[in-house]
Amino acid sequence: MSEVVTYQREGAVGVITVNYPPVNALGHAVRSGLLAALEQGQQDAEAKALLLVCEGRTFIAGADIREFGKPMQEPGLPSVVETFERSDKPIIAAIHGTALGGGLEMALGCHYRVALDSAKVGLPEVKLGLLPGAGGTQRLPRLAGAQVSLDMITSGNFVSADEALQNGIVDAVESGSDVKAVGLAFARKVIDEGKPVRRVRDLNDKVDAEKGSDIFDQYRAGLQKKARGLFSPFKCVDAVEAAFQLPFADGMKRERELFMECMESPQRAGLVHAFFAEREVSKVPGLAKDTPVRDVNSVGIIGAGTMGGGIAMNFANVGIPVRLLEVKQEALDKGLAIIRRNYENTARKGRITQAQVEERMALIQPTLSYDDFADVDLVIEAVFENMGVKKDIFGTLDKVCKPGAILASNTSTLDIDEIASATRRPQDVVGMHFFSPANVMKLLENVCGSQTADDVKATVMAVAKRIKKVGVLVGNCYGFVGNRMLHQRGAEATKLVNEGASPQQVDKVLTDLGFPMGQFAMSDLAGIDVGYRIREERRKAGEDVPASWMDKLAEEGRLGQKTQAGVYLYEEGSRKPVVDPKVDALIAEFRKEQGIEPREISDQEILERCMYVMINEGAKILEEGIAARALDVDIVWIYGYGFPAYRGGPMFWADQVGVKEIYDTVKRFHDTLGGDQWKPAALLERLASEGKTFGSL
Ligand code: 3HC
Repeated sequence: MSEVVTYQREGAVGVITVNYPPVNALGHAVRSGLLAALEQGQQDAEAKALLLVCEGRTFIAGADIREFGKPMQEPGLPSVVETFERSDKPIIAAIHGTALGGGLEMALGCHYRVALDSAKVGLPEVKLGLLPGAGGTQRLPRLAGAQVSLDMITSGNFVSADEALQNGIVDAVESGSDVKAVGLAFARKVIDEGKPVRRVRDLNDKVDAEKGSDIFDQYRAGLQKKARGLFSPFKCVDAVEAAFQLPFADGMKRERELFMECMESPQRAGLVHAFFAEREVSKVPGLAKDTPVRDVNSVGIIGAGTMGGGIAMNFANVGIPVRLLEVKQEALDKGLAIIRRNYENTARKGRITQAQVEERMALIQPTLSYDDFADVDLVIEAVFENMGVKKDIFGTLDKVCKPGAILASNTSTLDIDEIASATRRPQDVVGMHFFSPANVMKLLENVCGSQTADDVKATVMAVAKRIKKVGVLVGNCYGFVGNRMLHQRGAEATKLVNEGASPQQVDKVLTDLGFPMGQFAMSDLAGIDVGYRIREERRKAGEDVPASWMDKLAEEGRLGQKTQAGVYLYEEGSRKPVVDPKVDALIAEFRKEQGIEPREISDQEILERCMYVMINEGAKILEEGIAARALDVDIVWIYGYGFPAYRGGPMFWADQVGVKEIYDTVKRFHDTLGGDQWKPAALLERLASEGKTFGSL
């Protein structure tokens, strides 16, 4: 008998228990253990019904994702599910936690399902670039019909036990926390009432009723926008449709073919990388797991602008009180009004109640006085990018804040050590770089200064989790990980336009790669003045930052979406960029001033210059130790800048393109275009010459 699946009889019920921490994933040992335990149950003459139940925090949470991409070891999951379904003794699945993917498919292979009211079920395979591959696309429609199945399978979203009951996915929902007791009670009822073995494969009413429905084409049309660039959601629709067109056994074959297509797609590899990378980033190399964390039960935020307001919302959303500081009452009122408007919009969409709006607003206390920060646990400064202003603020914080308070800056580029030098407690100073819109974007780039204490590092990573962000701990340098790479891309994109490309051509290459918006649409969103101010600061500091047509936009007051004009035009209330001939004229004038003869630029050149310059910078970031691992860079880009997760992040993508190919091209650009940004990173050169990848580091 396997150690991870056991068989034991309780009265007339044979209990099959899975115990494979952390989430009872269906690895090889579990699959073979399930078959062995089932066999025992079949042979146990005293067992009149069988119960499938799990130990630990959850029911089976799916196939073992770590086995993907490796040769499959028998028995495969579809045949395990089928063997359970074929059993002549009724099998009941008792669900707690989350029954996901192959886990829900196992439960669908059982003859009855009972769930705790706290449980959730779902088929999230699509989030890994897959479709349910153990009968989920054929069995779920037989219980829940086309609409619910398409919704669940193409979104991967979980549904609550109650919804699962309403949709026919489970047969009963019980309160309480003892899932085994609930399962045993249900199994005894099955025995006492002589309930039959009820195989989902034989329930054809729902699929017969919707045969020939046009819902599938409607669904595909809807996905064109929602699932732009993605492969597997469309395959999910094909697989579900097969349940309505083919007999069960043929539908299963079709599901398998489509599943294998997804399994072999590079998108699956990218999404699985992103899944594990998201979990790895919280395990910071060099920071012991048991590093103590400081209490954070109250937060002070300086600046009630777009950033400060968004940051405040993150804390209020999870019940942490915030003091929001501005220098002028007017700015404070304006900031609070915007926060309220954001919450009311969310309430209008039905995502929170009006009572929650009021609760959250009550947690955000406005103030004009630093004295109100005397006893907060964490302060986050979110004023504009100016070192002098920030140092003044940190000097003040040093005077008013209690010992041990964490003093954080939301700076997106500036030197954390210099900011910390304005205090007598540099060990308590850290960067907490949120991404705009701060209440939406999931990334929190936590930046360590050279003296930041370990418990401060651990605390800001824990805070990220608490406010439902993905925290990545990075080192201190200009722009840190994300903006340092972005600025290289931005500069290159601007140069491409200098040389002859149009902003919309550059943006299209990036959106075709899968970014939600291009470089210039993004500048408009962030505000053209942000980049302008950064360039001006660098010029003041004596750096050689060449003039650009983007400066002209800023000087003309075209600041982006907020002024309805930037690189593009925006109609009142719309975020859709519209090409503006005036900008073409401004660019043409700039080229003339600079004596540039525009040339035709290919999409391939745009792709290589925009992306490879980032990869080269990413390699420098890795060799300097600013990011500990390539996967940290990937997560910064996926969650901070909308890098398509199905490409796994920039460094994973670079591995797929080929490190050698990138190195050769970077070197060629260095020879032809010049510039430090094209000087091949030593790490890139080494990996290319050794035939290695960033993933191998
Ligand atoms: N396989 C292998 N490992 C898994 C796993 C899986 N299916 N699901 C989670 N894990 C691991 C995580 O990597 C993590 O490992 P770590 O501690 O070493 O970092 C650990 O389990 C705990 O996971 P989380 O940190 O995510 O814990 P949470 O409690 O926040 O979330 C969860 C639990 C909701 C189960 C979440 O982990 C999750 O969504 N998992 C993925 C579920 C999924 O996608 N299932 C479908 C798989 S594909 C499939 O089933 C194919 C089939 O149709 C043939």
